[in-house]
Amino acid sequence: MPDTKFVTLSLERPDPSLIADAAAILRAGGLVAFPTETVYGLGADALNEEAVKKVFAAKGRPQENPLIVHIADRSQLIDLADDIPEKGQKLGREFWPGPLTLVVKKTFLVPAAVTGGMETVAIRMPDHPVALALIEEFNGGIVGPSANLSGKPSPTTALHVMDDLNGRIDMVLNSGPVEIGIESTVVDVTVEPPVILRPGGIHKESLEDIIGPVVIASQGELLRRSPGTLHRHYAPRAKVILVPEGDTGLLSRLLGEYRQQGKSVACIVHSREMARVESGSSFKVLPAPIDFYARYLFRTFRELDQTGIDVLLVEEVEESGLGVAVMDRLRKASEGTNEKT
Ligand code: TXA
Ligand code: MG
Repeated sequence: MPDTKFVTLSLERPDPSLIADAAAILRAGGLVAFPTETVYGLGADALNEEAVKKVFAAKGRPQENPLIVHIADRSQLIDLADDIPEKGQKLGREFWPGPLTLVVKKTFLVPAAVTGGMETVAIRMPDHPVALALIEEFNGGIVGPSANLSGKPSPTTALHVMDDLNGRIDMVLNSGPVEIGIESTVVDVTVEPPVILRPGGIHKESLEDIIGPVVIASQGELLRRSPGTLHRHYAPRAKVILVPEGDTGLLSRLLGEYRQQGKSVACIVHSREMARVESGSSFKVLPAPIDFYARYLFRTFRELDQTGIDVLLVEEVEESGLGVAVMDRLRKASEGTNEKT
């Protein structure tokens, strides 16, 4: 693999010649990382099986974990989706472009490598001028898993992508930090009622406003329907322990105990009480409004990981709105690393 080309594009007017270069790489079966409103994605031609296989290799991703196909226009659905139920169409009309991924029946054109051998395909229209310009210029669907090494937190800046994939992919399109910072909501609309396989940028209540009741998948269902949601995603290297919101007593006790064992401990908190427990570079206070908190969470995981900590204590957030997706990621981070300390 040649050196990874790193280019910067403005959000207002993405340079058409750079977009053309990136689209040419995709046409030739190469890999291009691109910004979206949620996290950076790793792009490849969704209908080119060899290109898709390179995505799995570059990320070190398990092959049974299916990819999301990104489109820029509804007309691109024809090649990808066999049938989109009425409720799926309503959700698409309401939330695309945006942080919503719909799981629908796939056409025979979509290679098995994309879907992990399943008969369904996940599709999303991202709300980002650079992503949309790239897909339009390429003129077809592109796969876009988060552009991190498998098991690392999703990248919220182009530099995170370089940290993980420099030398493994052809090009990175940089347009600065992303807006949301948490991956899209994945909804399976092939079943009745539709099932949320991964909470994300669009909340359950907003979905229900449009199509009525939706359910959140149980563990068993996730295993069957969306293998990727059970993999060790979003896991920092350190052991992660969640602390209830505002529980300063528990936070102080855990800090003391782990330090006594000679461990290097860091904290991520957001409430006013917790912010007063300590200060210093390993005591991160994130903004309390959940939109800002979500934007900085994965970046903070990465920053703390680089300092080589053993234990990370994280204050829980209220489980409503975007907080549902944030708690999902925090739980996964804490489950994924239990055996490491
Ligand atoms: O916000 C996002 O969705 C980002 C940006 C780049 O668009 N992409 C992303 O992709 O997070 P990835 O590959 O990291 O996560 C894809 C999720 C996985 O949990 C996977 O299991 C699920 O979507 N998925 C993909 N295809 C599926 C299918 N056919 N059935 C069920 N789940 C599927
Ligand atoms: Mg991912």
